Amino acid sequence: MALNEGPFHSHDFTKLSVRDAYRILVASIVPRPIAFVSTVDENGVTNLAPFSFFNGVSSNPTCIVFSCSRMPDGSKKDTLRNIEATGEFVVNTSEEAIAEEVNAASAAYPHGVSEFAIVGLTPLASTWVRPPRVAESAIHMECRLEKIVEIGEDSPGGSSLIIGRVLGMHVADRVLAEGEIRYEKLKPVARLGRDEWLRGGEVFRLRRPQIAAHDLPADRPSEKK
Ligand SMILES: Cc1cc2nc3c(=O)[nH]c(=O)nc-3n(C[C@H](O)[C@H](O)[C@H](O)COP(=O)(O)O)c2cc1C
Repeated sequence: MALNEGPFHSHDFTKLSVRDAYRILVASIVPRPIAFVSTVDENGVTNLAPFSFFNGVSSNPTCIVFSCSRMPDGSKKDTLRNIEATGEFVVNTSEEAIAEEVNAASAAYPHGVSEFAIVGLTPLASTWVRPPRVAESAIHMECRLEKIVEIGEDSPGGSSLIIGRVLGMHVADRVLAEGEIRYEKLKPVARLGRDEWLRGGEVFRLRRPQIAAHDLPADRPSEKK
């Protein structure tokens, strides 16, 4: 239930349903990049699923994190089960050209069924880990499990934060210009709230500010150099 605080709707998250809290959260943290995660189970069967609670978190060691929530019945998703069993995964980029396939791979197929074949994407052998990469994605991050941080209980909405150490990356020539990865060439898609996605957008540049001595307040002479 929303309170009215002047021009704001204010939501007390201690009283909100899990569903309502989720809806407000995902519409507020936007746009979210989508990790397209490939794993294998203990028998080598491949699995593929998208995760938008995803980001880079450290550069030394280079680590990424994504969040894998519990299923509505409280059980673990295949991606988490596979990573717990093998300690390895690959994060592939989600781009405009494969947005339909990324979305299709999010269907709850039973354990042991490979989304690669079902959604029509091509497995490509990895260099440092067993799970294959997605050939159609332009960027692949081969990861070894660093740590799993549990959030909440084994209940709907409870999640495992999967932190992966990036062992190596592959970047397709087609997204490079002068050796740099270019957003305009990568054409990533991102998640918004509801069932909305984002593509495109306007790129602009800002220089990082440099603090000059004359910018500091006069009453803090010790910080002047
Ligand atoms: C764009 C997109 C983003 C998603 N982000 C997440 C997420 O961050 N965390 C999560 O647990 N599920 C997320 N899902 C749902 C999973 O992809 C879905 O539960 C999938 O079936 C899990 O597959 P698995 O059981 O093979 O691991 C997302 C789905 C889509 C389409």
